[in-house]
Amino acid sequence: MIDLKIQTREAKQFLGNATETILSSALKSGLVFEYSCKTGQCGVCKTRVISGTVAELRAQIALTESDRAEDKVLTCCCAPTTDLLIDAEDLAALHGIDIKTLPCRIKQLTRFSDELIGVTLRLPPTAHFKFLEGQYIDIIGPGSIRRSYSIASTAEESEIVLYIKRFENGQMSDYWFNQAKENDLLRMEGPKGTFFLRDSKQDLVFLATGTGIAPIISILTGLDNDPDFVQSSKISLYWGNRFPKDFFWTHSFKKLKVDVNYVLSRTADNWSHHTGYVQDVALTSDHDMAQSAVYACGSNMMIKSAQESFLAAGLAENKFYSDAFVQSY
Ligand code: FES
Repeated sequence: MIDLKIQTREAKQFLGNATETILSSALKSGLVFEYSCKTGQCGVCKTRVISGTVAELRAQIALTESDRAEDKVLTCCCAPTTDLLIDAEDLAALHGIDIKTLPCRIKQLTRFSDELIGVTLRLPPTAHFKFLEGQYIDIIGPGSIRRSYSIASTAEESEIVLYIKRFENGQMSDYWFNQAKENDLLRMEGPKGTFFLRDSKQDLVFLATGTGIAPIISILTGLDNDPDFVQSSKISLYWGNRFPKDFFWTHSFKKLKVDVNYVLSRTADNWSHHTGYVQDVALTSDHDMAQSAVYACGSNMMIKSAQESFLAAGLAENKFYSDAFVQSY
């Protein structure tokens, strides 16, 4: 296998080869580029190839024709076929946060409804598991089924909290909703993804649908608990669900001032909050796009629509961060 040299615009270098994706080679070499799904569906890992050529190892589903015309590629799908110069940025904040595979036990299961449970996981005392609030883990369950879940607890806590939604006929859903019990032994791999807070001094707009609220709970609670954090800007949260009973979390921040907006996508009797889509409700509010960063987590459809609308409204392209829940294969 021939080693190929891959260089970023900031002149960071690592080696790749024609059988491994650019993202995978970067992660192995200790560099971290933006990524989320690793399956070509979310588009978070999109970057421009400045020079060199690549081959697709898996379909670049999230790449549009105009992206291709601008020499953009998905680093989770493509491998180099020559030396490369790419526009990707190395995220130094994630250096030293190693992805580990660890055993974990279910400490607590909380059934919020037939569609939603909360899971608290206990890790071995020697695990020294580190993550940045906003990241996710993979749970490896019975029969080695693997699914990704965002962490809702903070990095300071010794246990990990996940919120899990039932998927019709989902193998892992069958485990969580019909078989799982306290003290079950599972494995987890992580932390993963690059959804974390970049700059807390800007106005922050958080958008979530369903259990996409989990990493945002983690980020906001982390800020609330941080003795060094002094809030100097506006924080807004728009959380969307289909039914009133789906709003399973209520905020109780000690010092953080957050404008929390509950948004129902369907009409319901006695609903006194917003109705519509989170991105539309957020856009009707008075946000100064030049001073804002947007963090969106949840359905891929919401994220695509939010990104398009916010960029059209003047948000800078590099101020939209997302973590899409996409289908597992
Ligand atoms: S498309 Fe590459 S990480 Fe999602």
